[in-house]
Amino acid sequence: MNSTPNAVPLSNRLDGKTVVIFGGSSGIGLSAAIQAKTAGANVIVVGRDATSAEKAATAHGFDGWRAADVTDGAAVEAALRDIPQVDHLVLLAGTFVAGQVREAEIAYLHRAFDERIWAAIHAVRALGDRLSPDGSITLISGALADRPNAYGTAVLAAASAAMEALARGLALELAPVRVNTLSPGPIDTPILSKSLGENRDAVVASMRNSLPLHRLGTPEEAGAGVLFLMTNGWMNGATLNLDGGSRLV
Ligand SMILES: NC(=O)c1ccc[n+]([C@@H]2O[C@H](COP(=O)([O-])OP(=O)(O)OC[C@H]3O[C@@H](n4cnc5c(N)ncnc54)[C@H](OP(=O)(O)O)[C@@H]3O)[C@@H](O)[C@H]2O)c1
Repeated sequence: MNSTPNAVPLSNRLDGKTVVIFGGSSGIGLSAAIQAKTAGANVIVVGRDATSAEKAATAHGFDGWRAADVTDGAAVEAALRDIPQVDHLVLLAGTFVAGQVREAEIAYLHRAFDERIWAAIHAVRALGDRLSPDGSITLISGALADRPNAYGTAVLAAASAAMEALARGLALELAPVRVNTLSPGPIDTPILSKSLGENRDAVVASMRNSLPLHRLGTPEEAGAGVLFLMTNGWMNGATLNLDGGSRLV
């Protein structure tokens, strides 16, 4: 009989596991939370806005919710304080930080790193040895990390690439905890309207034209990538490019 964890069907591979998802109240994180719940996990979602986090948890039967701004280390620590053990930590919280380096406010550009690198560092330190040795951490980057553009995304691209490097370093430092990064291409989530406002539809139409699959990815496809990184015990120190081939054009 094969007793490796990956021989267990995905449908119940997370039975009894505690999964904490920062950014789990919307988009990719919400879809990952729903899929983790379906796979048997106890799911706690963390969002910045309390009302959205509570609404998501109630609607999908999650086991808890927290409100915390990940740019505030003390808030991250408080959100994790009463959770005795975490098996899988997922750090997806973030906004589309876009501003030209010579023009944007420095405090605003800092957010790209504060929401990603420093949030991850605060969460890992806050959990300490409450992170299960056979568990995992999933970080978020994005196709910008290796396919930049001239539209004010240089700092976000840098923060995204840094997440991939952080994951590789943590995979060694925290071993045997596995640490990976999901790097999505364009996914159709609320982040598009939040960042593009009334230009959303025009930008999406233009993206559809140029993308190899003539569509954006769905939150479910991206959430499935998170589940794969969480449950495949041989994924470690890796970046999963999940982008419909957007890096190729
Ligand atoms: N969608 C894409 O095409 C794409 C591509 C590459 C990378 N990404 C990255 O993937 C991650 C998830 O994006 P998404 O598309 O799922 O966006 P989304 O639907 O806007 O979800 C973002 C989530 O992060 C939370 N969040 C944002 N800032 C936060 C903060 N300072 N503190 C705590 N929580 C915060 C949001 O909570 P509130 O709603 O309460 O603020 C929400 O739960 C982001 O880091 C994004 O940069 C997305």
